[in-house]
Amino acid sequence: FNQSKRKDWSKILMVVYYEEGSPTAEITDKELEYALATALNKLKGKEKRNVMLIPPDFTRFHSKSGIVTQHAYNYFGENVKDIMPALGTHAPMTEQEISKMFGNVPHELFRVHDWRNDVVTIGEVPQDLVREASDGQVNEPWPAQLNKLIWEGNHDLIISIGQVVPHEVMGMANYNKNLFVGTGGSDAINFSHFIGAVYGMERMMGRANNPLRRILNYASDNFLQKLPLIYVQTVIGRRDDGSVVTRGVFIGDDDECFTKAAALSLKVNFTLLPAPLDEVVVYLDPEEFKTTWLGNKSIYRTRMAIADQGKLVVLAPGVTHFGEDKQIDLLIRKYGYRTTPEVLAHIHANRDLMKNLSAAAHLIHGSSENRFKIIYACSPTGLQKDEVEGVGFEYAPLQTMLDYYGIKDPTNTSDGWHTVNGRHFYYISNPAMGLWAYKGRFEASFQPTSSVPPPTTPLVSHNTNEACLDAGNRHEAFAFIDSDGSPVAFVNRCTHVALELDLNDADFLMHGVIQCKAHGALFDSTTGACLRPPLRCKLLRPLIKIPLEIDSNQNVVAYNQPLRPTESYVDNEYRQEKLKKLQKQFNLEAVDAQAEIDRINQRSLEMVKKARQERQEKLFKK
Ligand code: FES
Repeated sequence: FNQSKRKDWSKILMVVYYEEGSPTAEITDKELEYALATALNKLKGKEKRNVMLIPPDFTRFHSKSGIVTQHAYNYFGENVKDIMPALGTHAPMTEQEISKMFGNVPHELFRVHDWRNDVVTIGEVPQDLVREASDGQVNEPWPAQLNKLIWEGNHDLIISIGQVVPHEVMGMANYNKNLFVGTGGSDAINFSHFIGAVYGMERMMGRANNPLRRILNYASDNFLQKLPLIYVQTVIGRRDDGSVVTRGVFIGDDDECFTKAAALSLKVNFTLLPAPLDEVVVYLDPEEFKTTWLGNKSIYRTRMAIADQGKLVVLAPGVTHFGEDKQIDLLIRKYGYRTTPEVLAHIHANRDLMKNLSAAAHLIHGSSENRFKIIYACSPTGLQKDEVEGVGFEYAPLQTMLDYYGIKDPTNTSDGWHTVNGRHFYYISNPAMGLWAYKGRFEASFQPTSSVPPPTTPLVSHNTNEACLDAGNRHEAFAFIDSDGSPVAFVNRCTHVALELDLNDADFLMHGVIQCKAHGALFDSTTGACLRPPLRCKLLRPLIKIPLEIDSNQNVVAYNQPLRPTESYVDNEYRQEKLKKLQKQFNLEAVDAQAEIDRINQRSLEMVKKARQERQEKLFKK
């Protein structure tokens, strides 16, 4: 078959094995078990002796996916060989979280998805489709990636489990998102988040059919056909008393079960309001929300409901960090939640952000585009005032806000309108459970985001010594603004071993020093001179500097001159002075420099090992 014929053929075979649901349905956990067994009994083909389950992680605790996973385990017993929570870029689940979400399912069946290392690219979605999807902002093919175990595990059956609910990146969560994002690699995740952000979050949310979903569907239709996949999709709502209830369950092997679940989810999880809200208070359960990375759901899910100049108060008792991992946490602290044009300008000017587009997308998503005020109310042990204000939000002590709104027990306060001391506000007890919008804005949101307001803060003011102007063609060179404001460029090659200095990492420029990500050598960012060699080495030659000039139009120009090692000598005093400054900065940030170097060395060893293995595998195949 050629591609198009293969697609048609596969469509003919696709099936919905079970469907049940309505906005008022109450499906018990026992009935979920029946639904799953009914669907599984219909599966034909060889006996299922090697089954893999892919549920979401603890951040989707309320999705009932934990219960479905337990039922699937009970159905297949020891034929379940692997369970891989679709972590995306989240931290691995703790033992305690696994027990709470998956009950008695044996812990040894659980596999951790490592989005940085354990991934295989199974195909590419054509550039034209991506360009169209991103309104021309991204002009590259999208790499469809999966965890290796899914692709190479020779399973007889793979069950992807998840809740369909409005989602900031995908419009509606689930179906193939659980695979391509939940078990994808950094390239796929970065690109998909960025595409969603530049297309416009408000144009995506609540819409099952959108450009990003079309990209993923292309990948499903063209690359996933060899996998024995079925999808279990739940729709979860809340009763009037706030308790969680399953409103729908749809099981099938293609997008039809997702489309049906999405239609029900819109009825269950979407609150369309007649007028905008001036004051919204959202509660983040401390067990579920420990970072703004997740807690900003409070912003995404309510932004279409909030009036211009309105106010969003986020009650965040458990939020102690910004990012789910250290690197993203640092990026959020560095750039903050800024408007779309500001973040786009930062991306073009800063290599670390350019190499982490999902963080960039997250910064766009967390901004109100200066349209309404966002106040994070944190506990004394959580994020502090200067940290919260540093990323562009306003800060308030948690208790002050609870008193102000007369909220005694946030978990026992009903969703909807409240009036306290003449103050009228709208309360939401869990933003992950829905989407709120007022009619006019939701209808208008489908239009392109042509009128994004211009930047209001200087673009690279707070960290000019690390602002990268150009990541260089194929990583051959990199340029940045040095601490004295002048542009500097170097060839991206270490003088220890001829490796790229950044070694595919994002943060090799730090505090005026370049750190090689292969073995940790430090170079002076002004002269390129080696400040500290790697362990057991002599001082290295300086990096190769590229001469730059600023022309009459204020453009930075690199002239095509032959490149030679920089004739740069720095004396010992200069070197010691620089290292002292760096150590001071490390102390301030409580960074253990030696541990950092050990980590770098370990990582490069693993990369070398992996490259060697891949080479051997290739040779073997030949
Ligand atoms: S390659 Fe740069 S320190 Fe070894």
